[in-house]
Amino acid sequence: MRFFNFEELESTNDFLKNNAELFQEYDIVTARIQTKGRGRRGKVWFANEGAAIFSFLINERKDLNSYDYIKLPLIAGLATIKGLKKIENLNYMFKWTNDVYLNKKKLSGILVEKAGSNFIIGIGININNNIPIQVKNTAVSLKEITGITYSLFTVISSVVDSFSKLYDDFEKGKWKEIIEEINHMNYLKNSPTSLKIGDKYIEGIAQNINIDGEIEIFYEGKIHTFSMGEIV
Ligand code: BTN
Repeated sequence: MRFFNFEELESTNDFLKNNAELFQEYDIVTARIQTKGRGRRGKVWFANEGAAIFSFLINERKDLNSYDYIKLPLIAGLATIKGLKKIENLNYMFKWTNDVYLNKKKLSGILVEKAGSNFIIGIGININNNIPIQVKNTAVSLKEITGITYSLFTVISSVVDSFSKLYDDFEKGKWKEIIEEINHMNYLKNSPTSLKIGDKYIEGIAQNINIDGEIEIFYEGKIHTFSMGEIV
């Protein structure tokens, strides 16, 4: 695990993507300030100074099919929770597909992208940053909850270390155990949920995340499964 720390980058994901040949697996790029942070679905990811902003790289494995990589965001979400728990043991929840919630507010977002024969795992975690007033109802930082200022290096190391352990487990065939663990922290479980797919909205009660990493939603008297979509 090597750290490459930058004062300012447009996006740690873009930097890794554009310079992938310079980096090895589990090299970590961090930025104290990120000026063009990207979220999922082309959205902007904004985080004040003090957030953990980082991306790391995973090489493609020839023996894993591309379908398996749909599971990477779920593994990254669980790794974020496990990594954080080692630092501050709070009741983090995993919100399908890629978010970590704390006290019913978003603590972390994850953006997994394919770049050539690599995968870039980009993670933003609200750690020491102040949450702007406009999003106070929906986002939270760790410091706001505990009053403690954390070492971002320690947080990031812990999360990437958890990811590498989980990824080893995944390669050893322990996906079922991983998905079970994720389901123990399933934020949406038994909640009224609205899923946006294109222009369509699915309304129902969320159930488990199934073995294929899909969310189950109960409506019209039965369970339907979805592999993509935005929870709104
Ligand atoms: C989301 O919630 O939509 C995903 C947000 C992902 C943000 C992280 S911050 C580090 C990395 N660099 C980026 O440009 N995005 C990810």
